Amino acid sequence: MGLGGCPTETVVIAGQGYVGLPLAVLAAESGHFQVVGYDVAVSRIKQLSAAESYVEDVSSARLAAVLAAGAYRPTADERDLDGFDVAVISVPTPLREGQPDLSHIEAVARALAPRLRRGCTVVLESTTYPGTTEELVGPLLEEGSGLRAGPDFSLGYSPERIDPGNRVWGLAETPKLVSGVDEASLEAVRAFYDRMVNTTVPVPSPKVAELAKLVENTFRHINIALVNEIAMFAHELGIDAWSAIDAASTKPFGFLRFTPGPGVGGHCLPVDPVYLSWRVSRALGRRFRFVDLANDVNEHMPDYVVQRLMEALNRRRRSVNGSRVLLLGLAYKPNTGDARESPALRVAELLLELGADVHAADPHLVEPMPVDPRLVRVELTAQELAAADAVVVLTDHDGFDYDLVAERSAYVLDCRRRLARRDSVELL
Ligand SMILES: NC(=O)c1ccc[n+]([C@@H]2O[C@H](COP(=O)([O-])OP(=O)(O)OC[C@H]3O[C@@H](n4cnc5c(N)ncnc54)[C@H](O)[C@@H]3O)[C@@H](O)[C@H]2O)c1
Repeated sequence: MGLGGCPTETVVIAGQGYVGLPLAVLAAESGHFQVVGYDVAVSRIKQLSAAESYVEDVSSARLAAVLAAGAYRPTADERDLDGFDVAVISVPTPLREGQPDLSHIEAVARALAPRLRRGCTVVLESTTYPGTTEELVGPLLEEGSGLRAGPDFSLGYSPERIDPGNRVWGLAETPKLVSGVDEASLEAVRAFYDRMVNTTVPVPSPKVAELAKLVENTFRHINIALVNEIAMFAHELGIDAWSAIDAASTKPFGFLRFTPGPGVGGHCLPVDPVYLSWRVSRALGRRFRFVDLANDVNEHMPDYVVQRLMEALNRRRRSVNGSRVLLLGLAYKPNTGDARESPALRVAELLLELGADVHAADPHLVEPMPVDPRLVRVELTAQELAAADAVVVLTDHDGFDYDLVAERSAYVLDCRRRLARRDSVELL
């Protein structure tokens, strides 16, 4: 159904960030729902009301269309949560002093509870440790409403798998795991997403769905750490790790390709495995050794990048102190403007601490960032490249002119293997 339908169900999506906004717009476009996009960040709500999207996967034109059709209403007013049929919670789950911080989920659950009605559905989408839906969200909703999860209202968990910037696997194309605290809840959650995405995959319980999301992210985190450690050893052994990974990738079964890089970033990989290891240590008193090890390796990568840069400058009788270094890419992954937890920012900080004159080009990053004000933001030009003692490719945005980088730079440390091979270019 398109925007011209006559939706009768009201859906509240709490949290209008990278996860909540694409879902809200897709729900509005489906023609099945009146969507209320609720967020406590008043500035974000103002932008959304003016049809300005801050998320790459949602164009401002799509936003303008659902606003104009009256299918989507952004709001920071808690009273607009009244009368919902389905509520989705997609708020941040960060770490506070190294421990899961569920305060945002709790705040939304408390706001929804007095507004619960018999027959309505609540779905948690935020990434979190197994048990959150049944042991935290359920009791908060029950306490504030006097209703019971299961018999009176449906409750479930459906992890978000979006990969911001991925043009092949969007929200509608990626199979969506769905779960519920009982059969009826599972059916209600499934029926909700079936009206928006191509495939829903029911799983036996919210805990299984919560763990599945952490399995996915921990798997990536550990495999990235593995190739990072291999890259460091291979460099010392004088072997090209990247070619070895290419060779291994020709195996048609039993191998999944991951490539080295300057570390992991974003909201997920540096944070989510910690939710799982925290739960394991809380519930079982044991350490999750794979996660500890992967954290060690991946957190070390920015230091390793700086060490390699030091060695390269040293070979040319230069010190980092006083050298001009141009960083290409500050976002944590290509073609996005998301710099949360980006290892590139850590590389910049380390170089600044060592006295380098650090310049950085990243056309995707428009928001003011929490970085050292000594970091000079520049455009990628032939002059900038020629003026730099060293260039580091940290994030391989497609929009960079890599031929220009290779031609005009005295030395490039290519952490993403985007440049053609030549003497002045070294791979991480
Ligand atoms: N970004 C991703 O690629 C991604 C992918 C999969 C899962 N996730 C998970 O989804 C969740 C949300 O992540 P995100 O990237 O969308 O975060 P985000 O920071 O982009 O957006 C979250 C939004 O929630 C709002 N918020 C905070 N407290 C609120 C409250 N009490 N009521 C209403 N709104 C509130 C914030 O103002 C913010 O706009 C996290 O658990 C994250 O781990 C993220």
